[in-house]
Amino acid sequence: MAEELRTILGTKAEQYALLYEQLQALLQGETDQVARMANTAAALHHTFHFWWTGFYRVAGEELMLGPFQGPIACMRIGRGRGVCGTAWQEQQTLIVPDVDCFPGHIACSSASRSEIVVPLVREGAVIAVLDIDSEHLATFDEEDKFWLEKIVKLL
Ligand code: SME
Repeated sequence: MAEELRTILGTKAEQYALLYEQLQALLQGETDQVARMANTAAALHHTFHFWWTGFYRVAGEELMLGPFQGPIACMRIGRGRGVCGTAWQEQQTLIVPDVDCFPGHIACSSASRSEIVVPLVREGAVIAVLDIDSEHLATFDEEDKFWLEKIVKLL
């Protein structure tokens, strides 16, 4: 990020910290998980201007497309398939700096260049994944992982 922009918007950590506080207040008292995911996807997407931001929910042996912001996407992803299905299977966050270097990456959009997938774990099982795509290479790092893992715990 250019230095002037950083002065206007704050650092990435400052943006995430503010967003986290806003989400805490926004989600308080709402129990419907789709509504919670929908507003979380919208808040993240419009804060950071990602290419695609959304959730896939575990439905049996597949991930099913859930609330998202961005272009249309594949609706079902098998366990162990693509970045999302692998993060589900391995039950861990995956940062992919260049999607062309991830074997089996599912290209919902050719514009997507890098990606992060964060699983939502409840009582030891993955119930959904948060998937964020960027049209730039190497958008996501350990700082995104830290904050996004914190954010999905709100859900
Ligand atoms: N690229 C993902 C598929 C989902 S879309 O990017 C929205 C993957 O490989 O799992």
